[in-house]
Amino acid sequence: MKLNDLSVGEMAERAGVPVSTIHYYEAEGLIESWRTPANHRRYDRRELRRVAIARVALTVGVSLKEVREVLDRVPRSKAVGKNDWAKAAEPWAEMLDEKIMLLQRLRDQMGFCIGCGCLSLDSCPLYNPEDSLARNGSGPRRWTGGESELA
Ligand code: FES
Repeated sequence: MKLNDLSVGEMAERAGVPVSTIHYYEAEGLIESWRTPANHRRYDRRELRRVAIARVALTVGVSLKEVREVLDRVPRSKAVGKNDWAKAAEPWAEMLDEKIMLLQRLRDQMGFCIGCGCLSLDSCPLYNPEDSLARNGSGPRRWTGGESELA
């Protein structure tokens, strides 16, 4: 309990999210609060960092479970430093690299054959003749099936 702890409205305003998001994150165990004698929630300002990380991670498609797992790795019982956050985020490295790669492909290769089976582009018969990439599995095989380069 500290003098500069925040109300739920102050948390929401500073974090740039609706109050309902603060309640949701708390209900999901991503952040914690304490109660005043009048039963009002108060949040340590350090919870803002958890809100910010959760918000960005959830926006880019990290699951709620994965966010919770990483945030749970950050200790609450001591002053937390950058090494604590970096260590907590280690399990995300490979997953985030994969997401970055897919987002780059989405940005750069939307106009090319992606091996999805539609055969709708002029280039499809050339790069995915008769949907031959379907043998490797479903979905956009050039993006998700190990085909890394589009001609
Ligand atoms: S874009 Fe769908 S198979 Fe080529």
